[in-house]
Amino acid sequence: MNVYDSEQIARGLKALRYNMTSSQEKADLIIVNTCAIREKAEQKVFSFLGRLAGLKRKKPDLIIGVGGCVAQQEGAKILQRVPHLDLVFGTNAIGRLPGIIETIESKKCRIVDVEMSEQIEELDFVTNEYHKGKVTNFVTIMQGCDNYCTYCVVPYVRGRETSRNPEKIINEISRLIESGAREVTLLGQNVNSYGKKEGLCTFPELLALVNGIDDLLRIRFTTSHPKDLSEDLILAFKELDKLCSHIHLPIQSGSNRVLKRMNRKYNRKLYLAKVDKLRNIYPDIAITSDIIVGFPGETRTDFEETLELIKEMEFDGLFAFKYSDRPNAAAALFPDKISEKEKKERLQQVLNLQDHFTTKKNKELVGSTQSILVEGLSKKQTKVDIQNSYKDVQWTGRTSTNKIVNFPQGDDAVSCDGIIIGRMVNVRIVKAFSHSLWGEPVSIEPISFGSRGEKNYVA
Ligand code: 5AD
Ligand code: SF4
Repeated sequence: MNVYDSEQIARGLKALRYNMTSSQEKADLIIVNTCAIREKAEQKVFSFLGRLAGLKRKKPDLIIGVGGCVAQQEGAKILQRVPHLDLVFGTNAIGRLPGIIETIESKKCRIVDVEMSEQIEELDFVTNEYHKGKVTNFVTIMQGCDNYCTYCVVPYVRGRETSRNPEKIINEISRLIESGAREVTLLGQNVNSYGKKEGLCTFPELLALVNGIDDLLRIRFTTSHPKDLSEDLILAFKELDKLCSHIHLPIQSGSNRVLKRMNRKYNRKLYLAKVDKLRNIYPDIAITSDIIVGFPGETRTDFEETLELIKEMEFDGLFAFKYSDRPNAAAALFPDKISEKEKKERLQQVLNLQDHFTTKKNKELVGSTQSILVEGLSKKQTKVDIQNSYKDVQWTGRTSTNKIVNFPQGDDAVSCDGIIIGRMVNVRIVKAFSHSLWGEPVSIEPISFGSRGEKNYVA
């Protein structure tokens, strides 16, 4: 969600004639977009801001702003704590940002805007240049959250749950496609409750609308709350050809006692039953999850139940976090806090256990042919020398199940005119690592789009 917000910020600034630069020294404006989900992310913000003091001394006209969830949470306090800061803007203020910056430019004042609204402010930033050539993009379909999990800060910093109008979402996706997008990830804290409050269409209906957009090849979404995972959504995986076979379904804990204290409103049995249903209908679906270790009062037995669940579930991937107290979140006041040392040990145990399953799942793919949407050059390959042959170039993309695959262009298999970003390539998997796969290209799908004759480019 922060990546999406940063893109919106960049689009708004572009309209104000600010271009992206690769170095802080060259910048006339630095915006720090922040995350408050865990304490560590918040600490990083302040140490980063501290490091900008020297730059501001050298260049007094430099404008420095802080946005996002930490800005929303702390408001004017950040201006007091960071004397070289010009601006604090909250999660609902992105649309107002260009105007705020203009005011700071002309009046040389400091501004705090952390006003929240119940309505989604539709941004109408004209330029799309920022997205040019990006194959996969995020699109927010709703903001805020009404669930109040007891560990979570989101309802306090992103406000009440509000869904965007389907037409606005479809328009935004269509514009992205014009700039080269072939895949979108629909974003919401709990996509399953999309549209319910406002009486819009349901989430599976929205997915069906998005599925009908020409030239879009793939749809992903995140995040689903297990309590709201509906039969219709489960069926959508079968019915919608563009919907990727991956679902992120955060469980948080394997212990019913902890789940209750987290206010998650489901138990282990219900979670497993939903996963069973998903896997029965769609055996190849990849399932990933989130786990919090060391929630206040989590006993050794509770923790063992989480380990057991991980073994039973065999997730394709898992994000695990040490619990941290968040301002306003109910659990911050819960007794029986777990020591940092114990949390660290539990986290390591979870990560070690999951590593085994992630590698196992990856190894199962060796020998199979996977359809990969090519996103760009692999991490190893930073630049293509256009004069040279493309055959040694290494590309990266993902399987429908969201696994990263790197592969060389090779001689014949995908011999088109070189650059294949945004194309679907069938790749035979030859090697599995813990976090990626390596393969050989077999064939390239014909272009079913491109009537406009556009090509993507490597910047
Ligand atoms: N401490 C640790 N992890 C947290 N998460 C959310 N709040 C906290 C917290 N206070 C994790 C949850 C959530 C993910 C995005 O971050 O696992 O699913
Ligand atoms: Fe936070 Fe729970 Fe809402 Fe997710 S569903 S954003 S964990 S309150």
